Amino acid sequence: MRKHLLTLSLCLALTTINAQDIPHFIKQGSATQMIVDNKPMLLLAGETGNSSVSSVEDIETIFPKLKRIGLNTALVPAYWDLIEAEEGKFDFSLIDKTITEARRHDMKVVFLWFGAWKNSMSCYAPLWFKSDYKKYPRCYTETGKPLEIASPFSENVFNADSKAFVRFIEHIKSIDEKENTVIMIQVENEIGMLESARDHSKTANDLFYSAVPDELIMYLKKNNKTLHPWLKEKWQKAGGKTEGTWEEVFGKDIFTDEIFMAWQYAAYVEKMIQKGREVYNLPMYVNAAMNSRNRKPGEYPSAGPLAHLIDIWKCAAPSIDMLAPDLYDNGFVDWVAQYKLHNNPLFIPEIRLEPNDGVRAFYVFGQHDAIGFSPFSIEDAPDDGNYKLTKAYAKLDELMPLITRHQGKEQMKGILFDQMNKEKNIEWDGITLSCKHFFTLPWDARATDGSVWPEGGGLIIKLNKLEYIVAGSGIVIEFKYPDELKGFIQKKLGEDGFIAAGGDTTDKEKWYSEKRIGIGSVDEVSIDNEGNMKYLRRLNGDQDHQGRHVRIGVDDFSILHVKLYEYK
Ligand code: DGJ
Repeated sequence: MRKHLLTLSLCLALTTINAQDIPHFIKQGSATQMIVDNKPMLLLAGETGNSSVSSVEDIETIFPKLKRIGLNTALVPAYWDLIEAEEGKFDFSLIDKTITEARRHDMKVVFLWFGAWKNSMSCYAPLWFKSDYKKYPRCYTETGKPLEIASPFSENVFNADSKAFVRFIEHIKSIDEKENTVIMIQVENEIGMLESARDHSKTANDLFYSAVPDELIMYLKKNNKTLHPWLKEKWQKAGGKTEGTWEEVFGKDIFTDEIFMAWQYAAYVEKMIQKGREVYNLPMYVNAAMNSRNRKPGEYPSAGPLAHLIDIWKCAAPSIDMLAPDLYDNGFVDWVAQYKLHNNPLFIPEIRLEPNDGVRAFYVFGQHDAIGFSPFSIEDAPDDGNYKLTKAYAKLDELMPLITRHQGKEQMKGILFDQMNKEKNIEWDGITLSCKHFFTLPWDARATDGSVWPEGGGLIIKLNKLEYIVAGSGIVIEFKYPDELKGFIQKKLGEDGFIAAGGDTTDKEKWYSEKRIGIGSVDEVSIDNEGNMKYLRRLNGDQDHQGRHVRIGVDDFSILHVKLYEYK
């Protein structure tokens, strides 16, 4: 009996360990955290170029480089055309090699299923699929032009795509269930219609002129308060109807075509995820090409998992964990804010590879509790250890236990500055944090010699009202009580830190503030795996402008432990 009990409890223990081991999401306050190997993980990632992992030799060459660049996770395509070059015969040698190399370099992998659609098109479908266009039909423009975009309305398309997808997921499970090297799957890539906002095949037209599914109407009613403002307004403007065709419910314009098409794509992805999850319950997400530069649906990939369509996608595909933006356009701060929503955690699977990515990563982890950050074509980054992203990832890796401990609790902020947006005041616990770009100081010649300012940014963790962690690059912060600032004249400083000649040293109003805040100490620290700080050096005198501010230069990435005090 005792033996049986022992076996039973051992079995239960093993089940529990296994269940915990599968990467999954949990909520901590307002944040969503990704749990990998039983710990919250920030994906310090990069995505390989489209054709960079299409041979085992290339995979072998690329992984040591990714490690030197400092990634903990690689986003790597899984090419349907190479996996199932011959119908029904599956070759997973590239998948196996990717997993082996990732393990060898102590990295995790997110596989991108380049299946029926990649950047709208169906270029990664195998040739046997592409050439049998009768069995695997295409989408059509309004004038009847066939596109190299497989039809999401076709059962044959879905069956072929999902069969290969399921085999791929089964294979991952069979070789990785214990190790969990593969932590997430992207389903398809940048889904969306080009050249036309929706498919105009007969099947599509018939559905378009039929009633909007009840499921969507019920969702709109139930979630009326939290609907994306764009969708809410569109629906209300069309009369807020609760039955009718797509054009009756949402109005007659190109965006209604887009809504209709988004519903079809999302329903397709939902079925794919369900089939995959029946086999192996990994996190799964979709990525989107942005609707930027004033383009209309069809000029940009219409109906993709875009922020303004989030309710359509969520309703038709509740199994999707995240709608994730690919960022190649200006306006980073605005784009990321659009994808951190009450019903969507922020994950950036692609961003243009550039030196500013380092501080941008700090910003999204600090400001938006991001799941991960991943520049595209990452193997093109310099791997000599001096690239800014490498330095940033090294510090973020150290900070991971502290960041994840403070996520979702209003104890963390991100800051990001460039030449146009160089300062921001943060009001926090009754204290004003006056945060600026490092080049607002007269210290560095590049601030004024016509050089383009590198972006400066970082994150701030409030440990308590008078104690902070400040980390990042190219930033300067002063701490003040707000009433100290009234009547206060910002004095122009010379490059030596003294007030410039002729500068007015008299404040406009009589001093009346209760107390002032002073800098008690600024220490550069490192952080261990448990989140404990280790003193590296004291930064005082010239390094904190004799106690006036906290700063990190544009060429450094560091972690500072700041203690404040009050005086009067
Ligand atoms: C976004 C796509 O998702 C990537 O696969 C790649 O095509 C980049 N655009 C641009 O090269």
